Amino acid sequence: MSLKWWQEAVFYQIYPRSFADGNGDGIGDFIGMTSKLDYLQDLGIDAIWLSPHFPSSNWDIGYDIKDYCGVGAEYGTVDDFKNFLTEAHNRGIRVILDLVANHTSDEHAWFLQSKSSRTNPKADWYVWQDTPPNNWQSCFDGDAWTYSPERGQYYYHYFMKQQPDLNWHNPAVVEAMWDAVRFWLDLGVDGYRLDAIGTIYEDPDLTPHNVPHTLSSLRIYEGEAKTPEEKEKVRKFWAEMFKYQHGQDGVHQRMKELRSVLDEYEGDRMLVGEDDNPAYLGNGEDELHLVFNFPLMQSDGGLTPEHIIKNQQTRLAALANISPEAWPCNTLGNHDCARVYNQFGDGIHDAEKARLSIALMMTLRGTPFLYNGEEIGMSDYIITDPTLLTDTMATWYYSQLVNTQGVSKEEAAKRAGIRSRDKNRTPMQWTSEPNAGFSPPGIKTWLPINPNYKDGINVNDQSDDPNSLLSFYKKMIRFRRNHRALVEGDFQVIELANKDVLCFSRTSFAQSLIIVMNYSPIQHHLSFPPLGAKQPKLLFSSAGRNNKEFTLEGLKLGSFEILISEIAY
Ligand code: GLC
Repeated sequence: MSLKWWQEAVFYQIYPRSFADGNGDGIGDFIGMTSKLDYLQDLGIDAIWLSPHFPSSNWDIGYDIKDYCGVGAEYGTVDDFKNFLTEAHNRGIRVILDLVANHTSDEHAWFLQSKSSRTNPKADWYVWQDTPPNNWQSCFDGDAWTYSPERGQYYYHYFMKQQPDLNWHNPAVVEAMWDAVRFWLDLGVDGYRLDAIGTIYEDPDLTPHNVPHTLSSLRIYEGEAKTPEEKEKVRKFWAEMFKYQHGQDGVHQRMKELRSVLDEYEGDRMLVGEDDNPAYLGNGEDELHLVFNFPLMQSDGGLTPEHIIKNQQTRLAALANISPEAWPCNTLGNHDCARVYNQFGDGIHDAEKARLSIALMMTLRGTPFLYNGEEIGMSDYIITDPTLLTDTMATWYYSQLVNTQGVSKEEAAKRAGIRSRDKNRTPMQWTSEPNAGFSPPGIKTWLPINPNYKDGINVNDQSDDPNSLLSFYKKMIRFRRNHRALVEGDFQVIELANKDVLCFSRTSFAQSLIIVMNYSPIQHHLSFPPLGAKQPKLLFSSAGRNNKEFTLEGLKLGSFEILISEIAY
């Protein structure tokens, strides 16, 4: 079976500000990232998704772009970028960038001009209204309409008020964005991750939402919801509140255009959408190459075998509806959510569960995306001093709690720290030296470093330890690469009637593998359905089993054990 590189690749997301500080100013940069490419090559990943590296006002740390064709001064220069890209390519590592198409920074030259008058050449580049036409909310900071005194009108923003939405009905905007896309494709980048792509169009009738809440009161209500019924209500409110502000007509046409821009280039450049809607794959060949399977990581009950099975069956069926070639894409973490270590841990078996998570990513069907730091078990570091928070969404939440809800400062700081995305963006932990080898000792890093770098949660210590999580990641990544069925094989659930154990097969022309994972601390005595196979061969066992004595018959699967065997028919 001949697959494209992005179908075979393991992607690794780098959050540039927190990866490696090459010039000792407390902020990650291209010199630092370039110096870590050998590490990434050794880790075994094939491609990098780089979160925004453009000049930004940093209200949303890079996701408020001031210039689509530049490099933020704190990250270096365009030459530094080019060097990074060349060095990555020299190591066989591809690089995709983040395309933030819905909005710019309010300091972008386009917006500065647009807000300067109602008649300037870019007057229609953003979404302007004389008065707020509805009750729409920004998903980050309250009302979605903000007044511009210069222009005497309101502009629309789905995200922060410092992130005005571009008017995608204006052909000049579309052209300017595709030009920016070409700028980096010309330099050789391998594709794009499309930020919040579903939000570029709004309901043309500007229909108000009918939720009895503002963003602020819904957040409070959400914080108080305890029962499953209340939680379900919250979920419905969130969906209702924003339903006229995303997923609107028009996106497909734009994606088709973008796809043809990419197809002008050689080398199978690719697009992955920050959306879970498979409809953005178009007919399988004319829109995006991938969309993320976010429902996998969104589970109130945790990552259980039942949830995983249901998720995979639903997802694979939805993709098959699009086209037989539609390709899945799985992830468990990124810069917007709690770290894998916490999100899918239970506070007691986090280390074991982290191993199950990478084993899952490497054995499911579809392109996996990992997030920097998860390979050493970096965990959320909750900042409870509100003056140290940099995530504006969280500082806004803090001020709402204190100023309008009468919550004590101490309690508000706690809640804002937990909600903040700073907790999962702290600097990468390279060594056990002061500043974790991210910045030179004594430098104040842009976010505090999680002190657990001193307790073995760092690359250096784990590199030397064959039993570390890092070594396990390397092993699993290599295992995927060396077993074709894990890349191209189909996925079938094997029913074991045991709620703690996940069991599935991955079968390709060349090979059939059975993957068995125990999601519990309890040993399970398993009985498999007839597999019609010859004696299975043990390929991988987290429990150090011996192949000679191996049989699936009456298998006693140990606590959190991961086992992969090959069967021949
Ligand atoms: C995406 C990004 C997130 C950002 C938002 C606005 O969801 O992942 O970090 O804040 O878009 O650009």
